[in-house]
Amino acid sequence: MKVSFKELGLVNTREMFAKAVKGGYAIPAFNFNNMEQLQAIIQASAETKSPVILQVSKGARNYANQTLLRYMAQGAVEYAKELGWKKPQIVLHLDHGDSYELCKSCVDFGFSSVMIDASSLPYEENVKLTRKVVNYAHKYDVTVEAELGVLAGVEDEVSSAVSHYTKPEEVIDFVKKTKCDSLAISIGTSHGAYKFTPEQCTRDPKTGKLVPPPLAFDVLKAVEKKLPGFPIVLHGSSSVPQEYVDMCNQYGGKLPNAIGIPEEQLRKAAKSAVCKINIDSDSRLAMTGAIRKHLAENPGHFDPRQYLKPAREEMKKMYIHKIINVLGSNGKAR
Ligand code: G3H
Ligand code: 13P
Ligand code: ZN
Repeated sequence: MKVSFKELGLVNTREMFAKAVKGGYAIPAFNFNNMEQLQAIIQASAETKSPVILQVSKGARNYANQTLLRYMAQGAVEYAKELGWKKPQIVLHLDHGDSYELCKSCVDFGFSSVMIDASSLPYEENVKLTRKVVNYAHKYDVTVEAELGVLAGVEDEVSSAVSHYTKPEEVIDFVKKTKCDSLAISIGTSHGAYKFTPEQCTRDPKTGKLVPPPLAFDVLKAVEKKLPGFPIVLHGSSSVPQEYVDMCNQYGGKLPNAIGIPEEQLRKAAKSAVCKINIDSDSRLAMTGAIRKHLAENPGHFDPRQYLKPAREEMKKMYIHKIINVLGSNGKAR
């Protein structure tokens, strides 16, 4: 049965992005696959009064079931109100949709925003598929994110060995032809917890720690110049906090040389036309680190609530930090 996102109490990204671009901040787009991640995201957003985008990947949809995820998002709106957030601004977004059928199914199932990621296709095919998704989604007031340029990184459903920066000279034509509502671009971020090889980094002479190469802010600037005020999206924006990598490694994990995007660079991007920043890996690391630590310190525990509770608290702490110190979206949805 078809349902509109409006009946679920969700909002699309249109107004949210317009305000973020004007205000020089970005909306957090946090991926979720289970109840604990969702609880932590909603608690953090409600406490900071930050608009938030709940992202569901194709992999999450297969893992958790689309119907269940939809009701969880609907429940999240009610939960947010219960926490004292009078006007929750919550988007349910399909992350990396790879076909018209998947995007259509999400529109029909109550998502308020979808991404069609046809960035690996030749330019004209990307335009054609994106336009087709926009035509359908806009009939139901669902907003559409598209992508130009390719990010490196390998995850369940998203994979590419090398990145190709977005070509600024293509963006005007692409947005005009597709009528997409926001555009994900490639400026050196990538998916996962291994964003750079040690060879791509330099070493801080004082700490000996790896320092990743800077993002291509010149490409971002050139895109902004071509599309003034148009909402730009950054994928692959986890910073891979060293404390979580260490926590994983100290308690039996093996994540050598995991490295992310420095938060100062994301903060700088958030102050520009970048109005949506995607974070998934950091939540995975916080959750796994906390669970590993708890189980190592409490070998007799076997009730999932015993280790999921500290994991949820760690994720909440991380989300609040991102909202306040990286995205600057706190207090923007009162
Ligand atoms: O960009 C990809 C997201 O981190 C989702 O990853 O496909 O493994 O759920 P996933
Ligand atoms: P990270 O792997 O850097 O968290 O990126 C997530 C993402 O881009 C989801 O679309
Ligand atoms: Zn992504």
